[in-house]
Amino acid sequence: MVAVSTLAAVGSAIVVAGQTRAENAPAGAAGTRPGTVPTPVPAPLGPHSPLRDLAAGRGLVVGSAVDVPALSATPGYAAELGREFSSVTAESAMKWDAVEPVQGSPDFTAADTLVAFARTHGQVVYGHNLVWYQSLPDWLTNATLPDAQYGEVLRAHISAEVGHFRQAVWAWDVVNEPLAEDGSLRPDLWTSHLGPGYIADALRWAHDADPDAVLFLNEYGAEDVNAKSDGLYRLVRDLLAQGVPLGGVGFQLHLAPAGVPARLVENLRRFTALGLQVAITELDVRVPVPAAAGALARQAEVYLAAISACLAVPGCVSFTVWGFTDAVSWIPAAYPGYGQACLLDPTLAPKPAYWAVAGALRHAATATPP
Ligand code: G3I
Repeated sequence: MVAVSTLAAVGSAIVVAGQTRAENAPAGAAGTRPGTVPTPVPAPLGPHSPLRDLAAGRGLVVGSAVDVPALSATPGYAAELGREFSSVTAESAMKWDAVEPVQGSPDFTAADTLVAFARTHGQVVYGHNLVWYQSLPDWLTNATLPDAQYGEVLRAHISAEVGHFRQAVWAWDVVNEPLAEDGSLRPDLWTSHLGPGYIADALRWAHDADPDAVLFLNEYGAEDVNAKSDGLYRLVRDLLAQGVPLGGVGFQLHLAPAGVPARLVENLRRFTALGLQVAITELDVRVPVPAAAGALARQAEVYLAAISACLAVPGCVSFTVWGFTDAVSWIPAAYPGYGQACLLDPTLAPKPAYWAVAGALRHAATATPP
């Protein structure tokens, strides 16, 4: 069954296909996973085609994290977001502290603004995130509950938020950053009160609330073949063996000039070989500021390597940058002395990184299939 979304398309339309990209996964995949992956319909390409149209030529969704207040507060931000991207991710508006600041009184206002924007601009929405050890509401952080009650609170939160956005959000980062650097489970509030089973429970609750959503685990520092990604691989393999409705794994790719890990493609492929989708979920490439001569050219090489890795892996269904303009980026506050991490400069002018990504997408869209 192919459900065709009725999203008004600006440029490339989005078709929500009944099949998952796992059908394109390498032979031996564990079969398709639950959920419907958006497949952009290619648009005619011209010399100034936006990233979304270039990406659609390969059926790839290209997105950005969105600071919802900037949609109205930052001149040009909304127009550029609508023009260039076929997917949006709420940078903060769908996190627990944003949607339920007062227990039992959900407030989806900001998130609904983003969903409405996406609908107007023919974009899909990637949900971020349901369960994390950060950005929890104060009433939860400060609570001392019996262990079982943490499970009840978590289930109620997932059911309420996924239910609110049912059919409006195609994918969810159900659990964000569940692992420690050595690949073991992060010793956070959820693991300590609920044990390792909270991850499977969270995925099942999200699936119950929206069976059509593709459910992801999202991690940083697991892009290379390393202890953390080995732990992530063991985790997802065990979840799949339990029949948990896991659909994909997100790799954040918050990078410094050192660049893309050497074994990124190999790593992505071992996850798609399990029948999962993979996604680049939070790409940015920070540089020491002010950027030295050549630094932005080097940054462009890193962005090129990242998009090329996603294009090289058939099960890589979504490529998202964590903010698209240096005018609105988390990097300067998080990494003092660093910035200029995005595709566009503070005036929304394309940087070398933008042209590198656009060139790779255009080549992929126009190259004759092998
Ligand atoms: O909305 C409040 C505002 O009302 C208040 O006046 C202001 C000052 O206290 O804070 C605002 O909330 C901030 C929020 O961003 C929205 O701007 C939080 O303090 C701040 O901690 C939060 O930072 C975000 C961070 O996640 C924590 O949620 C960053 O913008 C965001 O880029 C970052 O994104 C994370 C991903 O979710 C997961 N992967 C790593 C990535 C970077 O840390």
